[in-house]
Amino acid sequence: MKLHYGRMLSDRLDGVHGLPRPRLLELARRFGEVQAEVRRRRGAGEYGFYGLGDQAASVTQIRRFAEGVGQAFDHVLVLGIGGSALGMKALLNALKRPGWNELDDEGREFFPRLTVLDNVDPTSVAEALRRMDPRRALVNVISKSGGTAETMAQYLVVREWLERALGPAAARHLVFTTDPARGALREIAARDGIAALEVPPAVGGRFSVLSPVGLLPAALVGIDIEGLLAGARDALAGAEADDLLQNQSALWSALHWAADTALGARIHVLMPYTDRLREFAEWYRQLWAESLGKAKDRRGQEVHTGPTPVAAVGPTDQHSQVQLFMEGPFDKVVTFMAVDRFAEDVTIPQVAGLPADLAYLPGHSLAGLLQAEYQATSAALASMGRMNCSLHLPELSARTLGEAIMFFQLATGYAGVWYGVDPFDQPGVELGKRLTFAAMGRAGYTAEPLGLPPGDVA
Ligand code: PA5
Repeated sequence: MKLHYGRMLSDRLDGVHGLPRPRLLELARRFGEVQAEVRRRRGAGEYGFYGLGDQAASVTQIRRFAEGVGQAFDHVLVLGIGGSALGMKALLNALKRPGWNELDDEGREFFPRLTVLDNVDPTSVAEALRRMDPRRALVNVISKSGGTAETMAQYLVVREWLERALGPAAARHLVFTTDPARGALREIAARDGIAALEVPPAVGGRFSVLSPVGLLPAALVGIDIEGLLAGARDALAGAEADDLLQNQSALWSALHWAADTALGARIHVLMPYTDRLREFAEWYRQLWAESLGKAKDRRGQEVHTGPTPVAAVGPTDQHSQVQLFMEGPFDKVVTFMAVDRFAEDVTIPQVAGLPADLAYLPGHSLAGLLQAEYQATSAALASMGRMNCSLHLPELSARTLGEAIMFFQLATGYAGVWYGVDPFDQPGVELGKRLTFAAMGRAGYTAEPLGLPPGDVA
């Protein structure tokens, strides 16, 4: 993977906007302290995701499970939310054929279908269960805490659905991915003899796609999990560089922090030019938002900081959001993700009697059109003084995706230091959870009126 960052710098834009080149050198000078802090915190047990490149034992266990038990099912149902779901959705979208669940057995090379339920919308849950045969379904319940309300509610509904069809054999259709020791799921697994994999305690939800959280469902549908981890190791090796200009993830992170804090570019758009990274952009959005949006910094001072991530996809969003990126406020940085070589291409055919206006299209390929549109959008943004940069993947494979995943996790870890916040907690979602518990009558939580304020209704 290559990071092209020239269009973050004012001498490559219109000379007015963007970061002055000396600022890059200043960031490079300061990077030593940032790298030292990351190393110190890693030594103290934070930044657990750095260990995910090296999980031979987990991989063997997952392989054994997928090749044994997993073979007996033709549908995998994943229950999870946030970091326990978004990563798997990104893996499926990027690495399996589009419309995976609609393909017949041969089209899926006899791997199961996979559905991720990451909401408690009753219509989605009921419809998903109607479409599946419980006797042929394996349900992977993923929750690091083992107690998240949405996931546990889904689990109870799905367990009853399994038991109605299978009786006590339902337990053999369940596998949990959860904390090694704590939480309700771990307790149920021990009590009911349900297979359970471990989420490494030092790895937080949104950093966990390359742990058994994502690797088990990925292996079940035939994704090359060793390839994913090899890619992650490529990114991890790159992050050992102490020279900012040689350390891609740190450089991307530093440029985004500087664009936000020095130039007010606090909206960070990720815009892959392929449908297959749509879900990846959604995964990035959670990672960047939940990790960096914080009320307090590491010293406890009130800062209310954090960039706003936006997910887009090209060229589709050229007909939606790009007008705003091009002419709206100078408050954005766009990162393009381009795939240099598509696995499949389609030639635009010559058609008799084509109006002259369309004559430029035949003979080109769709990938060629897509690449031209990416390059044109990047150049057009630059000429309007809009900061943008590009990540080029030589191809979309398990290895390059693993590298891209780890790249963004590393970048987020570095950004925690630049912004001075803890990227691994999420205190801001606690109050909402407590109020929900109270509203649902959970013991120990005091109910407060939750309705909208009276009056002021139009
Ligand atoms: O990134 C995070 O930590 C969160 O988004 C969690 O993944 C999410 O809240 C689900 O938590 P859990 O896996 O404990 O059910």
